[in-house]
Amino acid sequence: MWRIAAIPGDGIGIEVTREALKVLRRAAELGGMAIEVAEWPHGAEHYLRTGVTITASEMAELAEYDAIFLGAMGDPRVPGNEHARDILLGLRFTLDLFINLRPIKLYQAAHSPLREVRPEDVDLVIFRENTEGVYAGMGGNFKAGTRDEVAIEEDINTWKGVERIIRAAFAYARERGRRLVTLGDKANAMPHAGALWRRVFAEVGGEFAEIPRNAVYADALALDLVLHPARYDVIVAPNLFGDILSDLAAALVGGLGLAPSASLHPGRSALFEPVHGSAPDLAGTGRANPLAAILTVGLMLEHLGESSGARAVELAVRRALERRATTPDLGGTLSCGQVGDLICADLAECLKAAARPMAE
Ligand code: NAD
Ligand code: IPM
Ligand code: MN
Repeated sequence: MWRIAAIPGDGIGIEVTREALKVLRRAAELGGMAIEVAEWPHGAEHYLRTGVTITASEMAELAEYDAIFLGAMGDPRVPGNEHARDILLGLRFTLDLFINLRPIKLYQAAHSPLREVRPEDVDLVIFRENTEGVYAGMGGNFKAGTRDEVAIEEDINTWKGVERIIRAAFAYARERGRRLVTLGDKANAMPHAGALWRRVFAEVGGEFAEIPRNAVYADALALDLVLHPARYDVIVAPNLFGDILSDLAAALVGGLGLAPSASLHPGRSALFEPVHGSAPDLAGTGRANPLAAILTVGLMLEHLGESSGARAVELAVRRALERRATTPDLGGTLSCGQVGDLICADLAECLKAAARPMAE
């Protein structure tokens, strides 16, 4: 029995989570998988009503689930974003989920804004460090509100933090037969942290000698990802660069409506969330694309060892895209709920195909 906590959160987070859970339940039913989903109310509304973002004991309770699914956090009524920091970043930090894995795949060439790009040209996995960097929250404001104000946001890079994310990227590359690991950093401008990342990248990379590696400055990497995406395979990056590069990479394959993510620490409960936010511009319109959230369910099933369910979910997404059965962001006319229903309706057939591993 898999125990799953679902936190729909805010805005389109609520809408895409509804579809993702429909797909999860359908996959469980068809695959004979026992699941129990507990929905948590935490988000902006809950915070505004109770004055509490999330308590320490609730955080501890969440750590006991096999997996946590989160829609998105962010609401214009909470301009300081404190609930997202406490809940979303809180989960990443409290559970020490140091791997933020963000696969980016081009399913349909027509969805890319790039000319003459083929699906095989964009198949990347970003390993974003998820527990340090400028996200550590170390710093402060001195003489706040005056013209003498000083704001400090420290960039924390520990040997342990750098080593484990780089090792995770190489281990993944080895396990999946990937052909290149690229480090995206700013060693030219950040000599202290940069030297640490480069040294550890060379050291750990040496243990994976069969896997080619290169280091590219993150700004040049952003450029080259647009110009020559086929050059890249596995990318490892500090927290902030990984955040920015993952939105950019999502744009190459059709946008945030197709970008899933998993926050992991092997052996612990894991957090699954689409890369996108609460998209206040789309909330309530039915135009949100649920496929990023549905692909995120696929990552969750894979993590739980439910590999045929995971393959079936991805296949159903692939087939919906082939049939152009999409929301308006990808040129279609379907609503968020219609896309979710369509994926559910196709799952039985996809499960059969997924049970034959080499069929697709
Ligand atoms: P966003 O990801 O919400 O939206 C960026 C753009 O992508 C918008 O134009 C939006 O319409 C589009 N988009 C996003 N998801 C989409 C989907 N599923 N289908 C179709 N189009 C989609 O980023 P933002 O506007 O910078 O942030 C809005 C709020 O979300 C902010 O409060 C931000 O802090 C928060 N946020 C939360 C998370 C999270 O909870 N994981 C992630 C990113 C941003
Ligand atoms: C993401 C988001 C978050 C981040 C925000 C909401 C704090 O952009 O998950 O990519 O920066 O990590
Ligand atoms: Mn982001």
